[in-house]
Amino acid sequence: MDKRPIGIFDSGVGGLTVAKEVMNLLPNETIVYLGDTANLPYGEKSAEIIRHYSVDNTEFLLKHDIKMLVVACNTASSVALEHLKSLYTIPIVGVIEPAVKGAIFATRNKKIGVIGTNRTIKSNVYAEMLAKLEPEGEIHSRSCPLFVPLIEEFFVEHDATRLIAAEYLKEFKEQGADTLILGCTHYPLIKEIIAEILPGVKLVDSAFSTARDIHSLLDTHKMLALSPKDGKPKHRFFATDLTPKLNELAKYIIGSGIDFEEISVK
Ligand code: DGL
Repeated sequence: MDKRPIGIFDSGVGGLTVAKEVMNLLPNETIVYLGDTANLPYGEKSAEIIRHYSVDNTEFLLKHDIKMLVVACNTASSVALEHLKSLYTIPIVGVIEPAVKGAIFATRNKKIGVIGTNRTIKSNVYAEMLAKLEPEGEIHSRSCPLFVPLIEEFFVEHDATRLIAAEYLKEFKEQGADTLILGCTHYPLIKEIIAEILPGVKLVDSAFSTARDIHSLLDTHKMLALSPKDGKPKHRFFATDLTPKLNELAKYIIGSGIDFEEISVK
């Protein structure tokens, strides 16, 4: 048993989709969350700078005595996970492997699509993970760089998003994918639109599968927290820039008010 918190970081608030699943599945665990909003979006940046931000984020979370690190950002998981694992000894979980495992479980015809930011898709990490875990699987990848700004603009039910999604996703119909990995923290927020365009295709987001992996890892290491004596765990949420949209988006994702604290990087 280990009552220290789980550290989670993302480039912004999208990683709250993972935090929410952790809270549901592991209600005794305390979370310290960091959204690197000052440097969002990661998806258009170089691998080197994302690794640099990821180390800074980890160093901040380690000051909060975390027992485990969750990289709840697909872009950072794509290009910085191995680097972080080479630097730190605490257990580290990313979102790529859980999503690929979820897709392998869901697919019937082994034709899997994946969408993500430019950096994630360029890294080819989903294809490599699938080749490792299911050599007979066939993957088709597509970057959808306009989705993050549209979602940040709250265009989650907007016709503009529908139009752009139809353009981005038409090639998955040609590929015949029966499963699509939503390889970006933001995309679960437009799941309905994606499902309208690709009816019958199973949509896999990494949040739930990641929470399940966190559970089994903590269980294996005998690091699960017991129910806190003084009531509910006290989560903390930090951001590197308290942008006006932050709380609004956070509320939309997690369903209740969250108070973000700013960490000084200015
Ligand atoms: N968090 C990023 C991801 O999951 C999306 C936003 C960004 O580009 O920073 O890939």
